[in-house]
Amino acid sequence: MSVPSAVSSTRQVPLLDLHPQNGPLRQEIEAAVARVFDSQRFILGPDHAEFEREMAAHLGIAHAIGCANGSDAILLALMAAGIGPGDEVAVPSFTFFATAGSVSRTGATPVFVDIQPDSFNLDPAALEEAARSHPKLKAVIPVHLFGGSADMDPILDVAARHGWTVIEDAAQSIGATYRGRPCMSLGAMGTLSFFPSKNLGAFGDAGMVVTTDKALADVLSALRVHGSREKYRHEWIGFNSRMDTLQAAILRVKLPHLNGWTEARQRNAARYQQLLAPAGLPISVPQAADWQTYHAWNQFVIRTQRRDELKAFLASQGVGTEIYYPIPLHRQPCYLSLGYAEGALPESERACREVLALPIHSGLLDGDIEYVCDCLVRFFAA
Ligand SMILES: Cc1ncc(COP(=O)(O)O)c(C=O)c1O
Repeated sequence: MSVPSAVSSTRQVPLLDLHPQNGPLRQEIEAAVARVFDSQRFILGPDHAEFEREMAAHLGIAHAIGCANGSDAILLALMAAGIGPGDEVAVPSFTFFATAGSVSRTGATPVFVDIQPDSFNLDPAALEEAARSHPKLKAVIPVHLFGGSADMDPILDVAARHGWTVIEDAAQSIGATYRGRPCMSLGAMGTLSFFPSKNLGAFGDAGMVVTTDKALADVLSALRVHGSREKYRHEWIGFNSRMDTLQAAILRVKLPHLNGWTEARQRNAARYQQLLAPAGLPISVPQAADWQTYHAWNQFVIRTQRRDELKAFLASQGVGTEIYYPIPLHRQPCYLSLGYAEGALPESERACREVLALPIHSGLLDGDIEYVCDCLVRFFAA
């Protein structure tokens, strides 16, 4: 099969462009930054406390604890759950590294579990199998990847039968629901990242842990300040993981726009699905599963066996794409010592060979999706 000649294009459709989102808010954001300047309260200042309150109200989850980034949010949640050396924690192998890296940072060991091919999320049947062969498992971290929830009821069922803590990694899925229930309220704790490319992005790093449990919220608030509730008295060994007040002030300006931005992503996903379904291309087009009642569409990830050629062709046509993720976590160099052979988790490995994220951000212009789909049709027609 040949590849169409790479006639370079004048149209540019970047994978992500934050200007359309942040540009119109410039004055409000500058005012928020000036407010922090005037207060000179840079660490856990008034905007930080307000942002925590506003996030809890927005999500409908009682407690929201700001922290430095989404990786620390997972680490803090694991520490609050008492996970440490000698413990094992089940994680999907197909996710961003931080999900497993945070487990290792506690001294515990990740147990990698395969995914469902369609939702890209933790496979409950594979989790059940892992439970049988790993008696040291103490927790599971289902990831709501690309904006869509994992199939939580069977996961919660396995966890309840084994007495595990459930920590939902919702870094990519703010606002997502599972069968109408908010993600992050289903397990003991949920974690968020405000990395700039997330649906709600800061101007740098920021993260959050949320929980419905007041006692856990108290521990989490202390852990992010060296385990201290009272100045210079340390009940736990925590670390420094505070969200900058500046980031909180900026995120407060952006939060009221989040639902509108997510709805634009949902319209973009629907447009891709509408254009790609009748085209009959040899690709798989993502669809929300029936349990993914509110899909946040942080990424729109197709699958094709000609992924690398397609990526190069789209780049030549001005279309930005990305491979989330090229290497499953059980085959990462730092985890080879755990002994997972190639082929051990076939769905995660196949996803790594086939996935390609297309532009879906809320600032896409009229005609951008039509142009991307036209490029796909031309690539496969050649
Ligand atoms: C699924 C997932 N978990 C955790 C993280 C870590 O978040 P952060 O980059 O804010 O540390 C990310 C960020 O990309 C993520 O996508």
